[in-house]
Amino acid sequence: MHNANSAPLTARRAGPLKGTAQVPGDKSISQRALILGALAEGETCITGLLESGDVHSTAGALRGFGATLTQEGPGRWHVTGTGVGNWKSPVSALDFGNSGTGSRLVMGAMATTPITAIFTGDASLRSRPMARVVEPLLAFGVTYEGQGPKALMPLTLHGAKDAPAIDKLVEVASAQVKSALLLAALNARGTTRITQTTLTRDHSEKMLAAFGAKISVSPLAEGGESIVVEGPARLTGCTVEVPRDPSSAAFAIVSALIVPGSEVELPAILLNPRRAGVIETLLEMGAHIEIRNRRSSGGEEIGDLLVRHSALKGVEVPASRAPSMIDEYPILSVAAAFATGETAMRGLEELRVKESDRLEAVAAGLKANGVSYVIEGDDLIVDGHGPDGVVGGGMVATHMDHRIAMSFLTMGLASQKPVTVDDVTMIATSFPEYQDLMRNLGAVMEAP
Ligand code: S3P
Repeated sequence: MHNANSAPLTARRAGPLKGTAQVPGDKSISQRALILGALAEGETCITGLLESGDVHSTAGALRGFGATLTQEGPGRWHVTGTGVGNWKSPVSALDFGNSGTGSRLVMGAMATTPITAIFTGDASLRSRPMARVVEPLLAFGVTYEGQGPKALMPLTLHGAKDAPAIDKLVEVASAQVKSALLLAALNARGTTRITQTTLTRDHSEKMLAAFGAKISVSPLAEGGESIVVEGPARLTGCTVEVPRDPSSAAFAIVSALIVPGSEVELPAILLNPRRAGVIETLLEMGAHIEIRNRRSSGGEEIGDLLVRHSALKGVEVPASRAPSMIDEYPILSVAAAFATGETAMRGLEELRVKESDRLEAVAAGLKANGVSYVIEGDDLIVDGHGPDGVVGGGMVATHMDHRIAMSFLTMGLASQKPVTVDDVTMIATSFPEYQDLMRNLGAVMEAP
């Protein structure tokens, strides 16, 4: 997959990285704030919203359903919702760009209102399976027309009238699938129960409660949990403070860890335990990451991080940790390349259905830069080449995937030879400030 107007970029070694990295708002929480705001009655006031391509795509789609969304200042947005069940059919197709989360959550949010919408996106999104969301939504009575057995976009979704409540086991370890079902349950008749065998990010559950939905979560003895939602629900607009995104922070964190002499502060980062797997793993690798001033903000745990260059060692990353760091394996693979000893990352099957097949894209990027690894089934085992042993010099294909682009630019900051990525345009889907932020810390990134 290639972007029509690709912009390559090269990252090279320079001095230490120093300073403060103000990373932008969390993407998952930003998406949910807009969607719940559009479903609620009254006004929702959001601060710290991530203003990236993915979030703008979702905002555009929500306007199509009849909600009013206005930007009042940087990161400050007002949403006037329609009330649950009052969305109207958009007049034209909804283009979600690169955003899997936006499109899948909105599918759920409209599924129990008798309206029709056409979902489409860029070449990356059009290759991603929507069946994982629309198939479980069939139980609510939706119908759809997608492309082929994976229900690829363009996809037309017809929401159900008088949808029944459902009791559903979600086996795929996906917060998007879980969230789509929870949002659909809001306008179903009665008590819906969604059970998930793994603990995926819980921002939807927390935010639904804050908007006044009747929702409760019960852990299961065998692991996993059941979430119960009462429909039809009334949501009331509220204020949402969006914390800073730990998945974006991870690029600055690993950069500071691998560039000698670095010391970087990252204030007010989201530390929700279901998102913090990469910090846990890096600490096990011997990373110097101090977490200060842990506190709560907008119903989420946050803290200030201080990161120093560190000698990293390879570790075993268990499959059970994958849900809490699912977006961080590309950047962890880069950290692993600069470690001493092997890092084994287990249970990565979900990486195959991200913005790219991230397992293959990471492997190709490692190979292009002289880093050895093996893939055994869904496990990736990266050889640590030591703090000064990564050769670099590669040209990395990013496959329209923002996280592949940022991960391999990070590699180039510490490898012997510069690393070039073929296209940085997709970085704006999640982290438009990335290049400026990294250059402010002292990183050298330039056109090849
Ligand atoms: C997200 C869930 C994850 C993650 C994505 C954001 C969310 O996807 O990869 O970047 O906001 O719910 P899956 O639910 O498919 O694992």
